[in-house]
Amino acid sequence: MNYKDYIRVIEDFPQPGISFKDITTLLNNGPVYQAVINELAQSLKGREIDAIAGPEARGFVIGAPLAVALGIGFVPIRKSGKLPGATIEADYALEYGKDKLAMHDDAIKPGQKVLIADDLLATGGTIATSINLVKQLGGKVVGAAFLIELMDLNGRDKLNGIDVISLVKY
Ligand code: PRP
Repeated sequence: MNYKDYIRVIEDFPQPGISFKDITTLLNNGPVYQAVINELAQSLKGREIDAIAGPEARGFVIGAPLAVALGIGFVPIRKSGKLPGATIEADYALEYGKDKLAMHDDAIKPGQKVLIADDLLATGGTIATSINLVKQLGGKVVGAAFLIELMDLNGRDKLNGIDVISLVKY
């Protein structure tokens, strides 16, 4: 299946020069959304993974169904101020902008094998920060899975050689 046929590209959003990959048009198609999750789950088969962690908000729509497909837990990585319990936080830079990500400090048990999932790998800032948070909690990051990878931005290079899976490359 060519997933690009279902991803809408919107130029100059949210600012001039950004070619935004809008996955809402893919998510709105049940069989295609299901195919994405099944393909990611299939490519992770046989791997030892205890939990999936995904960053807000679009990381949830890939990470949570993937966790269900694999029968493991999902851990949300949220923007600062959203999680009710005790958290750890880290600053990060985005392709356009800056923010803080947070995790509950008891969300990962030391030694747990964690896969990070998100819709899109761009500069890698979000995932590099997510990896740092998981590591701070004692988790072992065993890979990262994405629907989309923007090749020109070389996000992989920021991820210290962890195993990266992406289904669609631009
Ligand atoms: C987008 C996207 C990734 C991240 C990728 O999220 O969903 O999480 O940017 O960019 P990077 O590789 O350069 O860090 P965004 O922060 O826009 O938040 P959203 O999912 O809540 O829209």
